[in-house]
Amino acid sequence: MVVTFLASRFKNGLRPINPGKDLAQLIELLRLVFGKEMEAEGEPMFRSPLDSQTPAFLWRLDPTLSRLAPGFVWEEDGHIVANVTLLPTRNRSRFLVANVAVHPDFRRQGIARLLMGAVREDVLQRGGKEVLLQVVQENHVAIDLYSHMGFEILGNMATWRTSVSRVRELPDDSLGVVVRNLDRKRWREAYLLDCMALDQDMHWPDRLLPNAYKMDLLRRVKVFLNGQHEKTWMILDGSKQLNGLATIYGEWGRSHQLSLRVHPLWQGKLERPLLNKLIRRLQTMPRRNILLIHNADDATMNQLLPDANFSRVRTLTHMRLVLEDGSK
Ligand SMILES: CC(C)(COP(=O)(O)OP(=O)(O)OC[C@H]1O[C@@H](n2cnc3c(N)ncnc32)[C@H](O)[C@@H]1OP(=O)(O)O)[C@@H](O)C(=O)NCCC(=O)NCCS
Repeated sequence: MVVTFLASRFKNGLRPINPGKDLAQLIELLRLVFGKEMEAEGEPMFRSPLDSQTPAFLWRLDPTLSRLAPGFVWEEDGHIVANVTLLPTRNRSRFLVANVAVHPDFRRQGIARLLMGAVREDVLQRGGKEVLLQVVQENHVAIDLYSHMGFEILGNMATWRTSVSRVRELPDDSLGVVVRNLDRKRWREAYLLDCMALDQDMHWPDRLLPNAYKMDLLRRVKVFLNGQHEKTWMILDGSKQLNGLATIYGEWGRSHQLSLRVHPLWQGKLERPLLNKLIRRLQTMPRRNILLIHNADDATMNQLLPDANFSRVRTLTHMRLVLEDGSK
């Protein structure tokens, strides 16, 4: 009778996440599956000190956890044993998949495949056209799973890290290339250069907005009031064409974030002066960590960054599934 009672109490299988009920168990599952990996990269899995004893309503007050809410879980006898998070983006046809995790005791039973199938159906029903995800480059098991489901590899992005106290300037052989402040009127050109230098689907979580480089008065006031800082430099060629961009972005108490873009025809020639410009500026800034996320297949940057004392933290493969119609 007890067995019958228990069997009827729990509904096993796939279902949408119920944030009020599932979040505590979900965190435990994600800590078990990804915790070591995140710690090895020096990042806490979740900043929240909450644990499974915490009442559900407190979980819902934590904004960092609300991003776990949309998606699906797999339940076995009252326990969440697998999860996939499905996030919308600014672009209504574009969705992101994250936190694909199956408890080690329940792997190789087709659960991840079923969760990803549910994602696909859900995205189609919501009028979505593409699903994107990032996966650690060495995670061949997951890459196989996604490839079998029709995802294609877009490319690899490497995360590089150093700090203001460790970073060092590169020997200068830039042959007099001048790096100057980005001319405010050139924000459209800067966006177009960015699009040429990097596939826009490699931007995560959202594609770059066309006004990303537009630093009008309103934006500058906003940046200042939010305790942020943002500065972009450019390189022009003899005919005043924009061919290189370098940006430092940061906000109070967080790492300085860098980005560097070079026109495909100028690759290999402008990275060093751009990087040196960033480094010289960083050496005058608050002593914090520095992060740069850059195309992992860029041979020039892969050579320069270790010389400037950056270490590669990880490389993520970006994958995309294109959904053409509901019958696929
Ligand atoms: C990757 C993961 C989600 C797969 O979950 P799963 O439920 O075991 O996967 P499934 O049983 O649905 O397998 C689906 C396909 O994935 C691939 N796969 C899964 N486990 C595999 C393994 N150990 N070796 C090789 N291929 C494997 C196979 O292509 C498999 O299809 P097949 O069984 O027809 O050969 C799971 O191993 C996991 O949680 N890993 C740790 C977290 C992780 O890496 N998540 C992905 C982050 S992007």
